[in-house]
Amino acid sequence: MRLLKLTGLAAIALALGLTSALAAQKPVIKAEPGNPLGEIYSGYNMRDAKTQAMQDDDFDNPGFLWIEQGASLWDKVDGEDGKSCASCHGKAEESMKGVGAKFPKYVAAKKNIVNLELQVNDCRKLMKAKPFKYESNEMMGTVAYVKYQSRGMPVNVTIDGEAKKHWEAGKEFFYQRRGQLDMACSHCHEKYQGVHIRSDYLSQGQANGFPLFRLKWQNMGTLHRRFTGCNKNIRAQPYKRGSQEYLDLELYVTWRGNGLPIETPAVRQ
Ligand code: HEC
Ligand code: HEC
Repeated sequence: MRLLKLTGLAAIALALGLTSALAAQKPVIKAEPGNPLGEIYSGYNMRDAKTQAMQDDDFDNPGFLWIEQGASLWDKVDGEDGKSCASCHGKAEESMKGVGAKFPKYVAAKKNIVNLELQVNDCRKLMKAKPFKYESNEMMGTVAYVKYQSRGMPVNVTIDGEAKKHWEAGKEFFYQRRGQLDMACSHCHEKYQGVHIRSDYLSQGQANGFPLFRLKWQNMGTLHRRFTGCNKNIRAQPYKRGSQEYLDLELYVTWRGNGLPIETPAVRQ
């Protein structure tokens, strides 16, 4: 694989053919102690100006179609008990503020870590309503809507106590070489961050914009879909969305972004 080392914004702008407008940059933040990245930044910083503009404008941002769907599902009565999310949680703007920033998290009753997708289906079970499929529009809309209530708030997942072993499993996954190309997540998203690869710029692989709209997908997508794609790119076996492997990986990857403002719904190429 050919990796072309580029340094600095000017080089990026040049390579993208952006002569007049430099791509916008969100702040680079000092990572919390123990984070191997030292400094963290959003994948937004590696995108071209057009994609960034689409994310920045709530009217242009296609992700808002899912936010709107999530908002109407929040109030929709479903299931045998005749309840909606609002029946138990009231207004999402109040009850869900800051909640998305703390997921995935350890839930004692499940003796496991839970991400927002699993939490939503646990609640649908309480409502005696059918679970949403992992990557259905209903699920992505609901999760995006919950996460959106924390937009601008810093990612803040906890990895102590019972969460620790899941964090460790996720870390092991992240640094494990795999697939025909024998590469780990860390090769692309730590060692070669900022490098140009197959007409894309490698970011730190942060989770703060998910679920997000991807132009290539022409759709919203979950973090686990992205994991699947990255695994396939190196011809490694992908895991199922919602699998224990990807849950642990989600906890670890999300933690690497502790402190980054939530950008849901982000837009990517
Ligand atoms: C029958 C009541 C009930 C309904 C209806 C319900 N939930 Fe919940 N929900 C709970 C309980 C109980 C908890 C766990 C206790 C807590 O953290 O508030 C919870 C927790 C959550 C959490 C995590 C909160 C946190 O602080 O960690 C989210 C997110 C959530 N629910 C979303 C939803 C969504 C979306 C819906 C609609 C699809 C929904 N809930 C419907 C009862 C309900
Ligand atoms: C061969 C290089 C490569 C490897 C290995 C790789 N990725 Fe990626 N990944 C990419 C590219 C290219 C993108 C899109 C550009 C970017 O944001 O880096 C991407 C994007 C992502 C994103 C989205 C970032 C954003 O802001 O939208 C996440 C999250 C991610 N990768 C996680 C992982 C994880 C976890 C692994 C290990 C299972 C992994 N990647 C392995 C190349 C790779």
